[in-house]
Amino acid sequence: MVKLGVNIDHVATIRQARRTIEPDPVAAAVFCELAGADSITVHLREDRRHIQDRDVEVLARTLQVPMNLEMGCTDEMVGIALAIKPAYVCLVPEKRQEVTTEGGLDTTGAHLGPAIKKLAAAGIAVSLFIDPDEASIRAAKALGAPVIELHTGQYAETWEQSDRELERLRQGSALALALGLVLNAGHGLTYRNVGPVARIPGMNELNIGHSIVSRAVLVGMERAVREMKEAMR
Ligand code: PXP
Repeated sequence: MVKLGVNIDHVATIRQARRTIEPDPVAAAVFCELAGADSITVHLREDRRHIQDRDVEVLARTLQVPMNLEMGCTDEMVGIALAIKPAYVCLVPEKRQEVTTEGGLDTTGAHLGPAIKKLAAAGIAVSLFIDPDEASIRAAKALGAPVIELHTGQYAETWEQSDRELERLRQGSALALALGLVLNAGHGLTYRNVGPVARIPGMNELNIGHSIVSRAVLVGMERAVREMKEAMR
């Protein structure tokens, strides 16, 4: 069965909207684990717009499932990863102005190889978040990353109109497996579009965040309102 990594960044987004202590992504992670999440992903962004250093530190001590730390490939982030030692680091491109991670990693970056080596030497399995194209997948292999995460953003935007992006994901996945890479995928996956990606042969894990947090807000709304009425009584 394909594993589910739950990205809890947007629990922190709601907290940061008020710079308060709730909702705590650490508490959310416990509920994700109880519901069967196979791993927990957090993206510690350079601008700390959602996940904070404290979240990563506490999760590292309390998670029962592996932590997948998403991060840009900077000296600061590599230092944090070496101190925290998550099971996985997923290297992503990061731009300050973007709303979310827009494209796959540029695998020609000279800084990638040394960072992957340092992280691997600390026992961290490095994943590269890349577009599903042959050059990027071969480059990930050449860089020595044992894991790739294929960017499903284009698929998520176009799946209702055409199968083109699904086909690209299928071909990229087959190549990754032939090269001996562990195959993950994510970004923009929803309850409606996840099926065809989950059915790709050899898929190890899907990382899904926004859609799950969005649904959690809605399916929890009735109970939350009822409990507030109760508190007022
Ligand atoms: N994988 C990576 C590498 C990401 O950057 C993100 C977004 O933070 C996700 C998966 C999850 O995407 P979404 O929130 O759209 O499910």
